Amino acid sequence: MSGIRRASTVARTLQRSLATLNNAPPAGKPPTAIVMLNMGGPSTVPETHDFLKNLFSDNDLIPLPFQSVLAPLIARRRTPQIEKQYEDIGGGSPILKYTRLQGERMAALLDELHPETAPHKAYVAFRYANPLTEQTAREMKADGVKRAVAFTQYPQYSCSTTGSSLNELYRKGKTGEIGDGVEWSVIDRWGTHPGFVEAMAQNIERALAKFSEEERSDVVLLFSAHSLPMSVVNRGDPYVPEVSASVNAVMDRLKHSNPHRLVWQSQVGPSAWMGMQTGEAIKGLARLGRKNVVLIPIAFTSDHIETLFELDLEYAHEGKKLGMHVERAEALNDSPVFIRALADLASTHLQDYAAGRIGPTSIQMGLRCPGCTNAACGAQKAWFARGGL
Ligand code: FES
Repeated sequence: MSGIRRASTVARTLQRSLATLNNAPPAGKPPTAIVMLNMGGPSTVPETHDFLKNLFSDNDLIPLPFQSVLAPLIARRRTPQIEKQYEDIGGGSPILKYTRLQGERMAALLDELHPETAPHKAYVAFRYANPLTEQTAREMKADGVKRAVAFTQYPQYSCSTTGSSLNELYRKGKTGEIGDGVEWSVIDRWGTHPGFVEAMAQNIERALAKFSEEERSDVVLLFSAHSLPMSVVNRGDPYVPEVSASVNAVMDRLKHSNPHRLVWQSQVGPSAWMGMQTGEAIKGLARLGRKNVVLIPIAFTSDHIETLFELDLEYAHEGKKLGMHVERAEALNDSPVFIRALADLASTHLQDYAAGRIGPTSIQMGLRCPGCTNAACGAQKAWFARGGL
């Protein structure tokens, strides 16, 4: 190599090294926190009681009279039955495992997609199981976080799910448990994001491939979402239309290749809930002579008890007893298409926020449910709209 060529190669290498150094975050820079909000589930069977107690104590999810007295009683009564269900699915919920995996891979992608706010760190804040929001708050404070994005892992917004998590985050933020002067913004819903839709469609196609070619176009796609009490639906909660929008977007992507229905699962208690119920729909399809079904969890981002126990062990089993061929589309779990969608959502949000194209919350969050009488919703929304500062 001539002296001139060698010199220019050294110069290029040096330039590249300097560029890498310039892009690298300054040493000791606190991470940009991406806080992944979800309900959570007991990772081990002995955690079931505390999970249920936290769940029944949540006034945003299940408003009960004398809640602080009734919640522990109901939790104690239901614990043995629910512990058995967690034993049956392998000894605990995999939701933490998958949320951590999704978060770590998303954060690594984000460092590439949006180096301006690197390093990014995913934190998990569960509403009813470990790590609870208070534990995550301590971790964020210890890390010296100054910029945080509350990123709901419920694709479709409900005040009883995402709203409840945001209320909890607001309470911890207001008391300074997360640290002082943290600048917040919120990704509050994303049920029609093209990457989410694509990941769902690919999992449905894989499930359809398990049927013979002759049967395939006749298979009924049964989208199943967690139900809500009608008292929540009737106060103007946006969840039902948002789940419907997800289903329509997935069916558009599938070019409406199959007949489909949206049904609702996991009703508890005697009051009226959104229907029709998934179990009843399977019986109804059997009665109509429709033998082939794919069950699709449309409102969950990973496996947990509603997919592994309710869909797989209860409903699919029931269908088989009725002579049906029932498959379940896999949950999104470690889908690389889905994880890239999460990274795209967060990076677009960070870019738009930095450029002033969006505020700390979406326009949708500015409107409370027309039937809302919960003062906490108003306080939480105002706090996030100011950036939480
Ligand atoms: Fe929806 Fe309060 S219940 S904003």
